[in-house]
Amino acid sequence: MARILPTLAFHLLIISSLLSSFSMILVSAEDHEFVQSMDPELFGLKKEKLTHFRMYWHDVVDGPIPSAVTIVQPPSNSSQTRFGLIRMFDNALTQGPEPSSKLLGRAQGFYGSASQEDISLLMAQNFAFVQGKYNGSTVTLMGRNSILNKVRELSVIGGSGLFRYARGYALATTQSFNASKSDDAIVEYNIYVLHY
Ligand SMILES: *[C@@H]1O[C@H](CO)[C@@H](O)[C@H](O)[C@H]1NC(C)=O
Ligand SMILES: *[C@@H]1O[C@H](CO)[C@@H](O)[C@H](O)[C@H]1NC(C)=O
Ligand SMILES: *[C@@H]1O[C@H](CO)[C@@H](O)[C@H](O)[C@H]1NC(C)=O
Repeated sequence: MARILPTLAFHLLIISSLLSSFSMILVSAEDHEFVQSMDPELFGLKKEKLTHFRMYWHDVVDGPIPSAVTIVQPPSNSSQTRFGLIRMFDNALTQGPEPSSKLLGRAQGFYGSASQEDISLLMAQNFAFVQGKYNGSTVTLMGRNSILNKVRELSVIGGSGLFRYARGYALATTQSFNASKSDDAIVEYNIYVLHY
């Protein structure tokens, strides 16, 4: 008994000191602001720039190494527009329209057939650049793509790296499309991005 009591007292001492340091942490956290207004210039945000990119997007659905795979098949009795189809893609973005042209980045995302009336896709994709100062930066696009129209417009909804705070739009124009060859397509993207 005489040996247990001092141990118990020691434990109580430790617990009480832990509790008091915990409450000190709580108090000091309350001293800090949860929200702060910042000076944009300290973040290097001075003048907004407009940048234009032209790239070619290669959707390879067919062949031994597809870059786009069907992850959701529409029901067999779905409409002619294949409403409900969803594909995930990791498509090459090149400088010229030829697949062998210089690789500028990859377009990674998915598209789904989202219309029962015409062939319109909902697209969500990141353009992840790999060249020069843009290497590692991304631009995020989202929008409606009615693929049979000559020019389609999608929104640039954000970005990372050099494209933080990005906004803008992209114009997509099909260069080649072969519906009898599992939909393989090469699409020209002209992107206009406001960023800092
Ligand atoms: C499509 O097929 C499914 C399964 O056979 C059936 O439940 C559904 O009612 C069909 N839809 C139409 C619009 O025919
Ligand atoms: C891009 O960045 C990656 C990762 O930092 C690096 O491995 C690669 O060599 C860079 N590519 C170019 C073309 O600079
Ligand atoms: C589409 O692909 C098929 C099969 O490879 C080919 O026979 C046909 O000529 C192609 N059509 C066009 C317009 O390229």
